[in-house]
Amino acid sequence: MSESARERVFTGSDSLDPGAEDRSADALAERAARNASSLGMNDLRPRQFSDYIGQRDVVNSIQIAVEAAKHRGDTLDHALFHGPPGLGKTTISQIIAREMDTTLVHTSGPALERPADVVGILSNQKHGDVLFIDEIHRLSYAVEEYLYSAMEDFRVDFITGTGAFAKTINLPLQKFTLIGSTTRAGMLSPPLRERFALTYHLDYYSDDEIKQVVTRSAMILSVPIDEDGAVVIAKRSRGTPRIANNLLRRVRDFAQVRGDGTIDAEVAAEALRVEGVDELGLDRLDRLYLETLCRQYGGGPAGINALAASANEEVQTLEDVVEPFLLKIGFILRTPQGRRATSAGMGHVGDDGMRGGQGALIW
Ligand code: ADE
Repeated sequence: MSESARERVFTGSDSLDPGAEDRSADALAERAARNASSLGMNDLRPRQFSDYIGQRDVVNSIQIAVEAAKHRGDTLDHALFHGPPGLGKTTISQIIAREMDTTLVHTSGPALERPADVVGILSNQKHGDVLFIDEIHRLSYAVEEYLYSAMEDFRVDFITGTGAFAKTINLPLQKFTLIGSTTRAGMLSPPLRERFALTYHLDYYSDDEIKQVVTRSAMILSVPIDEDGAVVIAKRSRGTPRIANNLLRRVRDFAQVRGDGTIDAEVAAEALRVEGVDELGLDRLDRLYLETLCRQYGGGPAGINALAASANEEVQTLEDVVEPFLLKIGFILRTPQGRRATSAGMGHVGDDGMRGGQGALIW
């Protein structure tokens, strides 16, 4: 792999062992420790498929596509990743670029405001480059249209000048790979969605997988943690590695200030209580949502705009960040009439939650 390819995808140097495939806990921990200095203290993301925990079906399928493309000396087909935030869509894309020995150019739907932005980026792609567009569902239609011919025929046609001076320029592009990432696959227009040959859904991780993520990250951060401590953090991470790593950092801080620096179950539980994370991993915003639905709207149905206004939050934050996990654990339902709290959701708020806001909520 060339130095420039590494530098554009990741910061810091690279001393990973690309041949390593042993996925045993010991091997993962050993490689994590070996790579710690090269990753930088805060970079906990795995840098090769063999270090990636969870999403096995997705990773296996991508590995085959990557190997096959490399074998043919071809570029990888365009790929779309969808699923809730924090599950590894960006990380997997970075690993793909690394394993394809190429450069990842990172941009996002909202950043590509004008057609000129997207034409500029596309015309700068080199053969095999990976163009990663985060929040691809937020591309404007005008910008999206340029991607159709770029993805299919590796060319863009655009018009310069106006009126009698207008002329169409056909710009051939290098063959590149587009990776789109979205929390809202349903918001992608069919013509764009159909141009991705590879489509993957990332789902929440199991507690055991998150425990492995926590253990690996603690090793990289050189934080002593016992198995029970890792289990407590894992169970409160909402099946999401990004949350697990954030909670691990908060628990580490707590352990260093209030304890001897070691994380066990007791330290982890106390630290997360102080952070406002309950035993199911619901944080203040999750509970505010549930409380609003149960107390102000009597358990629903309530429209998302009304809930967002009452909770003083963005609709998009509630829809993308809060609701997917509450849906997954069966605390709420999305019905045609609006959002409803289930009896489990109402139980979590406590009986008082259904009595028009009387009494204390039990978290
Ligand atoms: N850090 C964040 N996500 C991870 C994953 N899926 N595997 C290993 N480490 C991670």
